[in-house]
Amino acid sequence: MTPQIRLLGISGSLRKRSYNTAILAALAEAVAAEANLELFPLNEVPLYDEDADTPTPPTVIVRLRAAVASSHGIVIASPEYNFGISGVLKNALDWISRPHGKSGLTGKPVLTITSSLATTGGVRAQAQLNETLIAIAAQLVLRPQAVIGSVHTKMTEGKFTDADSLKFLKDGIADLLRDIERYGSAIRQES
Ligand code: FNR
Repeated sequence: MTPQIRLLGISGSLRKRSYNTAILAALAEAVAAEANLELFPLNEVPLYDEDADTPTPPTVIVRLRAAVASSHGIVIASPEYNFGISGVLKNALDWISRPHGKSGLTGKPVLTITSSLATTGGVRAQAQLNETLIAIAAQLVLRPQAVIGSVHTKMTEGKFTDADSLKFLKDGIADLLRDIERYGSAIRQES
């Protein structure tokens, strides 16, 4: 039976062999019995332009906002670029954050993950990501930071396979599901 809980996965990397996207794909498999985790690729998202942010924004933005609004919770996995999140992810979050006060992310439980080749695992980017999500008043899952260092050593043939890390991240999803249950999640269908 398909699980009722819908989670939206957003990777901050466009790279085909992205470790962060691989983490989300592995998590989708690992939690399939409890939740349906679907990825929304950011490849087609244009650069944010307030002039284009009209009541009829680009179609991909309508789809992105609707995907966020109709999910019970969000899982974001980002690389660290120069101590911050990728421009691609920040750009998407800027689109999702509008209209101000009516974003589908506001009040929505969000689990943040970062990974990198370095042992630090993108921890600085994660702090920045959380700060942006606070600006949007998303419901951050408060837990030990889901940071994956030396991520390239945790892969097998393009798949994220490290059992200990997967267990750690699955615990993160369990905390996300707990918050969805505890606080509820405003599900909106964008018109
Ligand atoms: C990086 N990388 C990187 N890593 C890190 O731990 N801290 C950093 O500040 C940076 N800065 C940075 C800047 C830019 C422009 C690039 C392209 C890369 C390395 C980064 O962790 C690595 O490329 C990851 O593999 C990117 O994630 P994906 O694409 O595999 O998901």
